[in-house]
Amino acid sequence: MDFNFTEEQLAVRDAARDFAQKELLPGVIERDIEQKFPASQIQMMGELGFMGMMVDPRYGGGGMDTVSYVLAMEEISKVDASAAVCMSVNNSLVCWGLEKYGSEEQKQQYLVPLASGKKIGAFCLSEPEAGSDATSQRTTAEDRGDHYLVNGTKNWITNGNSASIYLVMAQTHPDLKHKGINALIVEKDRDGFVVGKKEDKMGIRGSDTHSLMFSDMQVPKENRIGADGFGFSFAMSTLNGGRLGIASQALGIASGALERAIQYAKERKAFGVEIARHQAIQFKIADMATKIEAARLLILKAARLKDAGKDFVKEAAMAKLFASDVAMETTIEAVQIHGGYGYVREYHVERMMRDAKITQIYEGTSEIQKIVISRALLK
Ligand code: CAA
Repeated sequence: MDFNFTEEQLAVRDAARDFAQKELLPGVIERDIEQKFPASQIQMMGELGFMGMMVDPRYGGGGMDTVSYVLAMEEISKVDASAAVCMSVNNSLVCWGLEKYGSEEQKQQYLVPLASGKKIGAFCLSEPEAGSDATSQRTTAEDRGDHYLVNGTKNWITNGNSASIYLVMAQTHPDLKHKGINALIVEKDRDGFVVGKKEDKMGIRGSDTHSLMFSDMQVPKENRIGADGFGFSFAMSTLNGGRLGIASQALGIASGALERAIQYAKERKAFGVEIARHQAIQFKIADMATKIEAARLLILKAARLKDAGKDFVKEAAMAKLFASDVAMETTIEAVQIHGGYGYVREYHVERMMRDAKITQIYEGTSEIQKIVISRALLK
């Protein structure tokens, strides 16, 4: 597989790197402490085209390929994993699904503002009693002729408060199990829509994660994506691309931590020399870099397959499974290399270690990725 990047892909990567250094790095520690959503930075990312990168320019997007997207995701995630998850959800879970499966009217009304970054989207699948077991949706969308009556609760919703357009999965025909689920486009200002409490999280504290409550909320039938009962297929198909976004986020966290560890190792002296001259540190750096490179190759392979229109489900799951473990392992080592300094906020790596953990959990836990991979191999 050819991994030579085009000039355009490299330019996108460099633009994301510049933006992250200039606009995301200042204040990233404070936003983590205060759990502050990077609203102005996300607005700028929209203006620069990072919020709807792969969407056709006809709908306000950047018309770029998946390789460009994963390169940009890595650069943003190196510096601010909270801004990165907002970007990932908007690009791969919201815009992608709307463009692929939405009607022309839905694209004009909802995709255009989302792809141009004027509005932010959220993807609402998880529930208090349906996380990994996503087919067990308890939220109901009762068919009332010209509209659905939606009742239920969604949990851990990324962009939960900052979004204004939500893709909500809800059960219409319980007897049909997952084939009775629908995906509905819901605007935040609908009667019966309440944004619940903000989660006080271990990591990605700059992203706003909320529960959502729907109480007798009416959603017009024309807001349903695809045919009646298509919602679970919609969610699964969308999540395949989402997993590639989160794999890239994990890669960015890992490579950001490695860059900081290398820089620190060249400056810090112990026993009369820079610690980079001690083999204990050299071997850690070698292990971290090797794992990061392997994760990058898995991600690029899955991205290339997706761009070629080929099946990439197994490869995206492998990329997320591996890259999220690499993020966890390398951030722990980056803290270790920094010693006591690694344990305080000022040196960034402790935040990266906390941020890394979620990549093994959301958009399908590592255990779910193993289910997806093994089913693809054994079917
Ligand atoms: N791609 C496409 N289709 C898929 C799929 C995939 N990766 N995985 C499952 N499906 C399809 C199956 O083919 C099947 O379709 P048919 O019935 O038409 O044949 C259907 O989904 C049901 O699958 P199973 O029969 O295998 O059902 P299961 O209950 O045994 O397993 C599961 C399903 C794979 C475990 C699924 O529930 C799953 O992926 N769970 C994890 C949910 C998840 O990733 N949640 C993330 C929340 S979103 C989030 O985190 C966003 C955020 O804010 C950051």
